[in-house]
Amino acid sequence: MIITIASVKGGTGKSLIASLISSVVNNALFIDCDPQGTLSIYFEPDSGYQKENLYTLLSGSKEESLYSTNGNFIIPSDIRLSEVKNTKTRQKAILDISKKFDITIIDTIGAISPLLELAISVSDLILCPVLPDKFSFIGIDHLEMVMKKCNKDNLKIIPNRFKKFSFKHKEILNLLKSKYEVMPFISDKQIYHEAASSRIKLKKIKNFLYYGVVNNAK
Ligand SMILES: Nc1ncnc2c1ncn2[C@@H]1O[C@H](COP(=O)(O)OP(=O)(O)O)[C@@H](O)[C@H]1O
Ligand SMILES: [Mg+2]
Repeated sequence: MIITIASVKGGTGKSLIASLISSVVNNALFIDCDPQGTLSIYFEPDSGYQKENLYTLLSGSKEESLYSTNGNFIIPSDIRLSEVKNTKTRQKAILDISKKFDITIIDTIGAISPLLELAISVSDLILCPVLPDKFSFIGIDHLEMVMKKCNKDNLKIIPNRFKKFSFKHKEILNLLKSKYEVMPFISDKQIYHEAASSRIKLKKIKNFLYYGVVNNAK
């Protein structure tokens, strides 16, 4: 099962959700398909740039690009990923390496690009974090256009940074639910950010991600 976390907007919580998922799974593969490399930094805060990475894998290198860390595996990012086009050979490279794992999570670039299309093309499920603002809806439409181009239609929305007692947020949530398959929302809490960066395991978010995302996706 390959799950891609995607939104054509930046800052919606893609990398945060990927890193939180890494605290609830074991033996899963994480692929950092964002040239900015946020997820790679989260996994390997001290080691920085890796010579063998997603870019070299997609360029046909047979060298090991997989790094073991905290019970999971990461294929790190590279700035040159921004040049990568979506081809069958590159799709196969990702599919082949993912076959060794029950779950692969791909973190993506927050913009419409061949790189995003590549990630979507290999995915079984797309998770789209959405912030509580009206512009997010435009982003979902754009993501659906990219998915259609890649012949994919399995989309689930994760409302992120919603406030439980906000009337406006509730309205947006209901609107989302009327149009899309929507997962339980993630509230706006600094602690999630800290949980991700310090690998603190929070029971509530852990349960949501495990039962809501991982198990649901199986
Ligand atoms: N639910 C949340 N509560 C608090 N901070 C959040 C939440 N979701 C995201 N953030 C913060 O917002 C910023 C952008 O999130 P990030 O995961 O990097 O977005 P993306 O990968 O979509 O660009 C980060 O500083 C992150 O910690
Ligand atoms: Mg990111």
